[in-house]
Amino acid sequence: MKNSSNEKRIFSGIQPTGNLTIGNYLGAVKRWVKLQAEKSDTIYCIVDLHAATTWQDPRELRETTRELVASLLACGLNPKESILFNQSQVSAHSELAWIFNCVARIGWLNRMTQFKDKAGKDKEKASVGLFAYPTLMAADILAYKATHVPVGEDQKQHLELTRDIASKFNLDYKVGDFFPLPEPLIEGAATRVMSLRDGQKKMSKSDASDFSRINLNDSSDLINQKIKKAKTDPYPLPDSLDELQGRPEALNLINIYAALSDRAPETVLEEFSGREFSYFKPKLAELTVDQICPISDKMKALLKDPNYIDCILHEGSTTAAQIANPIIHEVYEIVGLIRKRSQL
Ligand code: TYM
Repeated sequence: MKNSSNEKRIFSGIQPTGNLTIGNYLGAVKRWVKLQAEKSDTIYCIVDLHAATTWQDPRELRETTRELVASLLACGLNPKESILFNQSQVSAHSELAWIFNCVARIGWLNRMTQFKDKAGKDKEKASVGLFAYPTLMAADILAYKATHVPVGEDQKQHLELTRDIASKFNLDYKVGDFFPLPEPLIEGAATRVMSLRDGQKKMSKSDASDFSRINLNDSSDLINQKIKKAKTDPYPLPDSLDELQGRPEALNLINIYAALSDRAPETVLEEFSGREFSYFKPKLAELTVDQICPISDKMKALLKDPNYIDCILHEGSTTAAQIANPIIHEVYEIVGLIRKRSQL
């Protein structure tokens, strides 16, 4: 571990379902890479068990998991500085999730908007796993007693639930602050990147239209086309963010530009105020291609060696288990479950 005496421990997760979008990149992964450079421990998890809450083709799941590792490495995650692994290789996640299923209340889970969105109209037909998804997410974080969780805005409600579960466990078993109450890190200009076709809808891997998103493996031609076709409005760019109220598509493109260039949206507006989209869009496309295309080139090169990727996941899982297992053993002690001597 980087610095075990440091009290800050960063944890985050990502699902291996389909290509990463620029929303995942700007809302999460780009910030994971920045946090890796700081002193705290950084633990990043590919949440394959979460992916299994909706049916996945087994062969594709293995492929998308490896592709995701390759993308994360290509984005700058360094397995020597961060722990990178897949959830299913560390049994602590599932074990703690069961305990949390017994701590969380059905009423709490009923309020989760992501379940409502994903289950759609016929909730009765959704898997039990999809309903219990947030308790596994709480287990991911708390199996490491993580204190900070960098995510996009869509995960905020799940993090509030994680804090509720941690508090209730601490209280029910009278164990003070055994579990920390993890802080969400939802920061920067791109905490909610919106669809390029509809500024009111989140950019998502699962949107039916590929033109609604930029994937990290899109070619430069496709990125140019997607940005050219992105929905906008007929007005020039204004001087201030206030004037972008009611113009969600324009605001979204400014935020993407700001996050890609590590600048504040206000500064981007200063540069482009009074300009038409016909001027701004090619600049945005150029910046996007410059940042995204090198990632997809690296990713393709890494995918040529699946053994290397599997080794990273194996080593990451071993290190992750060394942190999580003693915490799970303590939890079992607290709850009153008998353990073999060798496991204590
Ligand atoms: P997932 O796989 O849907 O997304 C991974 C990360 O990308 C962020 N994100 C976005 N950020 C900005 N704009 C967008 N359009 C956008 N789309 C996605 C997400 O907020 C997330 O940070 N439940 C989680 C995975 C998870 C997890 C965890 C996260 C499982 N266990 C523990 C943190 C801690 C999810 O489905 O993310």
